[in-house]
Amino acid sequence: MEEHLTVGRVAELAGVSVRTLHHYDEIGLVHPSARTASGYRAYSPDDVERLREVLGYRRLGFGLREVADLVDDPNTDAVAHLHRLRGLLVDRRDHAAATVTAIDRELSARAMGIRPTPEEQLKVFGAQLYEAIGSAYPVTRRTEPRIAARIWEALGDARTVLNVGAGTGSYEPPNREVTAVEPSAVMRAQRPAGAAPCVAASAERLPFADQSFDAAMAVSTVHHWPDPIAGLRELKRVARRVVVFTYDASTTGWLQRFWLTRDYLPEFADLLVGWPSLADMAQAIGGRAEPVLIPWDCADGFFEAHWRRPEAYLDDHVRRAVSVWTRVGPQAEQRAVNMLRDDLSSGRWAERNRDLVVLDAAELGLRLLVA
Ligand SMILES: C[S@@+](CC[C@H](N)C(=O)[O-])C[C@H]1O[C@@H](n2cnc3c(N)ncnc32)[C@H](O)[C@@H]1O
Repeated sequence: MEEHLTVGRVAELAGVSVRTLHHYDEIGLVHPSARTASGYRAYSPDDVERLREVLGYRRLGFGLREVADLVDDPNTDAVAHLHRLRGLLVDRRDHAAATVTAIDRELSARAMGIRPTPEEQLKVFGAQLYEAIGSAYPVTRRTEPRIAARIWEALGDARTVLNVGAGTGSYEPPNREVTAVEPSAVMRAQRPAGAAPCVAASAERLPFADQSFDAAMAVSTVHHWPDPIAGLRELKRVARRVVVFTYDASTTGWLQRFWLTRDYLPEFADLLVGWPSLADMAQAIGGRAEPVLIPWDCADGFFEAHWRRPEAYLDDHVRRAVSVWTRVGPQAEQRAVNMLRDDLSSGRWAERNRDLVVLDAAELGLRLLVA
């Protein structure tokens, strides 16, 4: 009986009111299933474990009904709940860190008498996805030399190059005159010292005259643009040559081909709704599409990069630098990660994906559009 805690003691330890605990009991969320020697209701160790999960999800902002669904899920044990809560908290911490960085930058600007535009002020509170995930980006995202070689070759003899959706500057070619375009202040702030000059603008409205660059490039960014076709036309307008590294969402075959979307994260398909076909994108720049195989040890941690290193997807750092995981939402993310973890430890993943270990590069729908 010593292990059982009274309602008052639980309220004191957890920092919630007795009234809240009674409410949870009334709605069937956490029921004190034991009795003390003197007949009072008491919480068993299992009840306390459940209550802690409830409080964890509540503090993350989940509604009571959502919390009930989460803690009632028979496939999620205490350890899985801890992993999920941890992932959600890391997310929140990264978001808070990005916001602090943005506020600090604005304070420095104001100290110098510069007042940010209303648009810039609103962005500080995460109006844009990359303001939220940007701080995690450089941890795993960098130039993959074999993909860079393809892009740079496609740029031909271009001397002036515009890099649109440039992020932190990956894939910017050396020995050419590069101008970068990047709408996210968080991303711009993380460009290394000495990187190409960067203009705050969006692909759909490039502040440059017609044909003012030898070439324009866009890498892993078109799927973030509110209007990809308009953006691609802009690239074509301002440059004589266009090179775009993107994903072919025209056929659902790629979803089946990549084990991560096929077996763990089918929600990826929802993100492709409304996404233009490869043919439409190629047409927008008047170009052709070439397949790009992903090397097994790809240095740039984009979504498909770890196809032969499945353990990588269990790492928060790997997921936080890829917007897909933020876009599908925390529940789908945690479910996918928990299932993958289980399959890796049971050997099920290895059994299902036996064919992959012999491959050095995989065709997963990545494409280079060249015009
Ligand atoms: C996945 S990152 C790719 C960054 C970089 N090109 C690379 O390969 O590492 C996508 C970038 O697109 C930017 N982006 C989002 N919307 C955009 C738009 N409308 N026009 C241009 N860039 C945009 C984001 O801010 C982000 O930096």
